[in-house]
Amino acid sequence: MPLFRRPKRWASLVAGLALTSILLTACGENSPSILDPAGPIARSESNVFWIILIIAAVVFVGVEGVLIYSTIRFRERPDSPTPPQIHGNTTVELIWTIIPAVVLLAVLSVTIKGIFDVATPPANSNKTIEVTAYGHQWWWEFYYPEYKMTTADTLVIPPHTNVHVKLYSNNVIHSFWVPALTGKTDVIPGHDNEKWFSADTADKTYVGICAEYCGTQHANMRFDVKVTHDNNDFLSWAQLQQQAAAVPAPGSLEAKGQEVFKNQCTTCHGIVGVSQSTPYLQDPNPVGRCDDPQNANGCLIGPNLTHFGSRHLIAGGVLDYNAQDCNPGGDLSNCNLAKWISDPQKVKPGNDMSVNVDKSDLPALVAYLESLK
Ligand code: CUA
Repeated sequence: MPLFRRPKRWASLVAGLALTSILLTACGENSPSILDPAGPIARSESNVFWIILIIAAVVFVGVEGVLIYSTIRFRERPDSPTPPQIHGNTTVELIWTIIPAVVLLAVLSVTIKGIFDVATPPANSNKTIEVTAYGHQWWWEFYYPEYKMTTADTLVIPPHTNVHVKLYSNNVIHSFWVPALTGKTDVIPGHDNEKWFSADTADKTYVGICAEYCGTQHANMRFDVKVTHDNNDFLSWAQLQQQAAAVPAPGSLEAKGQEVFKNQCTTCHGIVGVSQSTPYLQDPNPVGRCDDPQNANGCLIGPNLTHFGSRHLIAGGVLDYNAQDCNPGGDLSNCNLAKWISDPQKVKPGNDMSVNVDKSDLPALVAYLESLK
């Protein structure tokens, strides 16, 4: 009797698997992966994954191997006698109770160690920076309480430093995830979560993702974690972020843009030194702004744009800020910032931004936002 009666079926299965693996290879390159950890927390998490995968693989191959072997070796033949019956055999039952118990204990201990690892500051550094991450629909805001500064879409951190992140939302549930640095933690309205992570490579940027469905633009709620060269590099960046916004020269294109900003954008956005309602730098106690009723005036709907020109992402990571294509005196057709401002609902349908910037005002507004380094 042939081992496999349907060679065609097996051929199509093998072909299907080959095709799937070819398609999956397209996921590599720039896709963030938990299997490529760049910090102690992520490494601990990926160790748990690998150890459990290896144990599971050994169990799978062992059990399936014995099963397949027995199925073939002891298959029914003409005139074969009734095989020996082992029901109630104490030795056999002890073996197949004790081995799985030991395996599950091993998995349990690895998991528990992982849980403690991620709940405590990584041991590789005694420096810590505090960050509060706010999940908005659909972008991330990062506030640094020690420095009284805020950014959107990009979290800048020094290397080899413990980052303690407090997670807030005043809208729906989001989930904070930087695959190369730290696993997912839900960001829940009314329930404050926190987490630790640390990066041990300098001059690198890692992709962050919202990992909990939070509305139509959930997939476009990305952010970057930018690791600076060293701590001094981080401090000089912070010093820049703490400044009030650049003041345009009177009569310049930027000054005209500032007027457009004041007329069209200040309901949702703030610029320190320009719009009255911009907190963050002036507010002595801004933590909890959006969730704290006492701080209702301190909550902005859109990102604080005080240093917009120093950023590199727009609209929750949907577009790169390609400043080289944004020459306000020339052609703006390839300028992502102009695309975003002129029709935000086309770029990211459903978002809160509804502006009506006159086409003739666009170059001035782009020039002004660009000047906010
Ligand atoms: Cu925020 Cu998904």
